Amino acid sequence: MSLLGIRNLRTHLAVPGGWAKVVDGVDLELAEGETLGVVGESGSGKTMLALSILGLLPEAGSFGAGSSIRFRGEELVGVGKKRLREIRGGEIAMIFQEPMTSLNPVFTVGNQVREAVELHRPLKGAAARHEVIRLLTEVGISSPDVRMRDYPHQFSGGMRQRVMIAMALAGEPSLLIADEPTTALDVSIEAQILKLLKAVQARKEMGLVLISHDLGVVSKVCERVVILYGGRVVESGPTHEVLAAPKHPYTRGLMGSRLSIDDRRKTLRPIPGEVPEATMWPRGCKFHPRCSEVLPRCRKAEPGLLAPDGDDRADREVRCWLFGDEEVPR
Ligand SMILES: Nc1ncnc2c1ncn2[C@@H]1O[C@H](COP(=O)(O)OP(=O)(O)OP(=O)(O)O)[C@@H](O)[C@H]1O
Ligand SMILES: [Mg+2]
Repeated sequence: MSLLGIRNLRTHLAVPGGWAKVVDGVDLELAEGETLGVVGESGSGKTMLALSILGLLPEAGSFGAGSSIRFRGEELVGVGKKRLREIRGGEIAMIFQEPMTSLNPVFTVGNQVREAVELHRPLKGAAARHEVIRLLTEVGISSPDVRMRDYPHQFSGGMRQRVMIAMALAGEPSLLIADEPTTALDVSIEAQILKLLKAVQARKEMGLVLISHDLGVVSKVCERVVILYGGRVVESGPTHEVLAAPKHPYTRGLMGSRLSIDDRRKTLRPIPGEVPEATMWPRGCKFHPRCSEVLPRCRKAEPGLLAPDGDDRADREVRCWLFGDEEVPR
C-alpha cells in the first residue's frame, strides 16, 4: 500500500529578484516499509524536499499549483497547521541535517527523549521513563538509566546521533526521513549508524527516506534511489541497478566524485562547475553547462523522464537526451 505519494511537487521560495524553484516538479512513490534514497550535490534541493513533506517551509516558501503530497492517502498540501503538527514527529519523523543543533545543550538527554515520548504518546511518569530507557536501549546506548541523566555534550557525535534516532522513534512513526544523518561522523561510526537505521527500519517495517550526497551511503540501506539535480529527479531506479549502470552523466559524475574507504587510491574526479543559484538555471537541461556529453538539443529543451533501455519499465527512469526522445508513458 502507498505510504507516500508525491506528484508534481513544486516548492518555490521568494528571493530578491524572483522565485527560486528549489523543488521543481518531483514525483515520488514510497510503499509501506520501503526504503528510498535521495541523492544529490549540495544545493540540489534534498532538504527542501524533506521540509516540504513535513510542511516546514521557510516563510518565503510556497507550493506551486498542482503540487500534491499524499501520506497514507491524506493530502498534506494545504492541510491545517494543527493536523501537520500531529503528523510531524508522530506519523512522520525527521532526523535533521545538523544533529548537534537539534539537541538542546541545557537539558539532559533523558529529558529530551521523554519530551518526544510525552508529546506523541499517552505515557506519563514511570511509564514514560520506562519508554525512554527502552528507546535508548533500542538504539544501542548502554546503561541507559545512567546515561539518560547526562547532557548532550557528554555524548560523542555517534551517540548523539543515536539519541536523535531514539527521539525520532518515540512517536512510533510509519515514515522516517533522515537528512544526511551520518555526514558529520567518521567512516566507522557512519557504518554503525547506517546499520542501526536499517535494523530499526526493518524491525518496525517503517518507510525510510534517506537523504545523502553519497550514493554509497544510500546503497547500504535503500532498495530504490532517486537522483536530484536542480530540484528535479534526473534518474531513479533500484539502487543496485543505478550503482551498477548509472545512466545520467550527473549520476556518473556523482559516482566518480565519491571517495570511500575501499577506493581511496582511486583518483577523485569532481563534477566540473558548480550548482548555480536556484534562480539562475539555464535553458534546456539544467545540467548541460557541466555535462561532458552535451548535445545541441540539450541547450534548447529539457527532456522528460525517459526509459533508459527503451522498455516501458516505470522503475528505471532518466532525464537525459542521450536516451532518446520518448517519454515514459504514465
Ligand atoms: N531559506 C532559504 N532561502 C533561499 N534559498 C534557500 C533557502 N534554503 C535553501 N535555499 C536554496 O534552495 C536550494 C536547495 O537547497 P537545499 O538546502 O534543499 O539543498 P540540499 O540538497 O539539502 O544541499 P546540502 O547537501 O548542502 O544540504 C539551494 O539553491 C539553496 O541555496
Ligand atoms: Mg540539505
